[in-house]
Amino acid sequence: MARLVGCFAASHGPLIARDWDKLPPAVRDRFSADFIELGKRVAAVKPDVIIAVTPDHWVNFFINNLPSVCIGVGEASDGPPEPFLSDFPWKEVPSHPGLARHILDTALGSDFEPSLSHRLKLDHGVCIPLWWMELPELPRVLPIIVNDLEPPMPSIRRCFAWGRLIARAIATYPENLRVAILATGGLSHSIGEATMGAIDEPFDHECIKLFKAGDEAKLTAYLDRALLKTGNGAHEVRNWVVAHAAAGGRGFDLIDYVPVPEVYVGCGYASWTVAAEQKQAA
Ligand SMILES: [Fe+2]
Repeated sequence: MARLVGCFAASHGPLIARDWDKLPPAVRDRFSADFIELGKRVAAVKPDVIIAVTPDHWVNFFINNLPSVCIGVGEASDGPPEPFLSDFPWKEVPSHPGLARHILDTALGSDFEPSLSHRLKLDHGVCIPLWWMELPELPRVLPIIVNDLEPPMPSIRRCFAWGRLIARAIATYPENLRVAILATGGLSHSIGEATMGAIDEPFDHECIKLFKAGDEAKLTAYLDRALLKTGNGAHEVRNWVVAHAAAGGRGFDLIDYVPVPEVYVGCGYASWTVAAEQKQAA
């Protein structure tokens, strides 16, 4: 059977790639250290497949067709279309259509109705973490896109439910696969609105505190309230909620938090241990 071997989260931002050479050396060093540590933790659990829970930044969808959740069920995804990622090493990223179809079937069988796509593009939201982590080899990457971008969005309660559903789908997939979840996005940022560039550090610290505490009701209540009052980019924390729920709401371990005005993002990096499996993987 397939096994969930670890859950991970990483912030992203186009300027991390686009303005890399212009960033202060100390900022570059901090980003490098954080992504490398994240990559070490991912590599340590030896995933065959990474399920990337990620927003779409208008490269696959637009307001004429905006799914709340879309599962990539194809053989592969296209590499990033953004010109500032033209050097991304993989023009095509293999996925795992069997596991993807099983997640889709598990969802439909549980009265969830996600969208599906046989061919998605992986934008900077996934590709910056994948590239910067410097994994010894790239596992298969199965994309699940969550609408964190444009209201109305899935509720935090539903994101918890999705995390549990994905974990159940992994646990019931018959192939012997090691599966990790990588949530991308967050923490606070504000893009293309009046507060553009604002980083809400109290929001970020409260999120980190609540992920550590693992109290679902408190985290849900806080995000329901706070997401209405902070920058629009913070909605990407939904993906962290999916990973958190898949991990059973425990084992959150912050790698680093650093607000980086140069890239407009309160950047967070974290992992969740997945109890028994972690011991076997050690
Ligand atoms: Fe984003």
